[in-house]
Amino acid sequence: MSENTHIQGFQGLGKNKGPCSAWFQGLEKRLKAAGNGNPKRSVEELAAYVLGCKPLEIYFREMTPEQGAELETLIVRAELGEPIQYIIGCVDFRGLEIHCDPRALIPRPETELLVDEVLEFAKDDRRRGFQPRSHEQIVVVAPTRLEASSTLKIADVCTGTGCIGLALASALPEASVTAIDISPEALALARENAERLGLSERITFVPGNLLNVDAVSSPRCTCKERGEDAASTLFAEHSLDVVVSNPPYIFSNVWKNLESCVRDHEPQLALDGGEDGMDLIRPLVEQAARVLKPGGGLFIEMGYDQGQAVSQCLEKFGFKNVRIIKDYSGLDRIVSGGRPLDGVRC
Ligand SMILES: C[S@@+](CC[C@H](N)C(=O)[O-])C[C@H]1O[C@@H](n2cnc3c(N)ncnc32)[C@H](O)[C@@H]1O
Repeated sequence: MSENTHIQGFQGLGKNKGPCSAWFQGLEKRLKAAGNGNPKRSVEELAAYVLGCKPLEIYFREMTPEQGAELETLIVRAELGEPIQYIIGCVDFRGLEIHCDPRALIPRPETELLVDEVLEFAKDDRRRGFQPRSHEQIVVVAPTRLEASSTLKIADVCTGTGCIGLALASALPEASVTAIDISPEALALARENAERLGLSERITFVPGNLLNVDAVSSPRCTCKERGEDAASTLFAEHSLDVVVSNPPYIFSNVWKNLESCVRDHEPQLALDGGEDGMDLIRPLVEQAARVLKPGGGLFIEMGYDQGQAVSQCLEKFGFKNVRIIKDYSGLDRIVSGGRPLDGVRC
């Protein structure tokens, strides 16, 4: 279809609803031909962005020629494979408007489940008396890790846009959140998101290699191999209540064959988890075992086929109550586990 045809289709917009939906259908066909997996939704989102309305309202709105020309430009970008979320520049993540661009991975709906799991854990903590409480309550709940502090200390490792840490900081006013990323670009974007959402006082952004300060050494070996000591970690031993992470977990050979709108546009650093997808997960679990308090929780997003490998890894490093949580499609997506309350070290 030539460019002229689109413009002609567009000229009827706003005067007659028929040509308008026919024009949208034409745009859908173009995106479908370009390999877009959800062309109708993509057209609706791009048109809604241009019109400043909700996606389903586009069929009842008038569009000026300038808006039509802008939409045409965005459709061409989408035809070239650019993700819709980068074109629009933001996503909704648990009700927060998270800006996103090629500096970081686009937050996915599944990751909201990871936040839900941490919130459930925090709620349990509150039930057990986590918030500032009286002396009597402390006696009742003893012995748990909760006596030491009234602030839930959370590390969001591999923060990207900051979506997980920001959603937690927003939902848990009593929490202190540290967000870590090895990419300075991603960290800058996360900071911008925090400032725009008015959450920058509630969350600290730190450059780091997983839970370590040393952003140069490879995360892809064990703590022992790296000769780590307490000084190289961002947190003191047994100082955190929660470590949560959506690390890069895609197998390298799968990454190479990902659809181009992901592989060619989203950062490889955010996706490629090495040969078995575990290059980051293994050291993260090992480090989390050291920095979590007794009773603290580790929550990791992973690939649908990694449930066994990740849960075994948690068990190897002494985590208890290791659970696999499924995503909206019924696939294994999250592994969680707790540090033993007796404070056994690994
Ligand atoms: C899968 S993305 C997750 C982003 C965000 N948390 C989310 O859920 O949308 C992984 C992030 O890990 C970061 N990353 C990769 N290797 C890292 C490392 N060794 N230490 C810390 N962050 C790392 C990448 O820069 C990227 O932002």
